[in-house]
Amino acid sequence: MNKDELLKMAVKAQNNAYAPYSHFKVGAAILTRNGKIYSGCNIENSSYGASICAERVALFKAVSEGEKDFLAIAIATDTKEPVMPCGICRQVLSEFAPNLKIYAINISGKVKEALLDQMLPDAFTKEDLEDIK
Ligand code: THU
Repeated sequence: MNKDELLKMAVKAQNNAYAPYSHFKVGAAILTRNGKIYSGCNIENSSYGASICAERVALFKAVSEGEKDFLAIAIATDTKEPVMPCGICRQVLSEFAPNLKIYAINISGKVKEALLDQMLPDAFTKEDLEDIK
């Protein structure tokens, strides 16, 4: 599985985005260590706070199928510049893959790469929960 295939899956998933409120359509595709890909799109709700980002849909689909080991995620948006995951998604992705590789692609095909641990330094983790005095 290469980067281009993962990006292509994210772009494809973007077609299913349900974003009647923001009109901001996002697609995501997450790659497991054993080579499987799970895709997702953002799904909004009339009760705005109940909306969910594409990245978490892709991750939760994978985790609900028993996956826990991830290598990379691709994110597709129709923006001028590639877009990185929001803060909530960074935290949620970090639970399973603190070293996740991130590829973001914009409408003209420009790709930006990043590493999750550089985008969420000093992340809150389960070890912090065990540190109560
Ligand atoms: N959104 C995502 O799906 N991923 C991101 O990384 C940023 C934001 C969605 C949430 C909402 O449906 C819309 O984009 C506008 O915030």
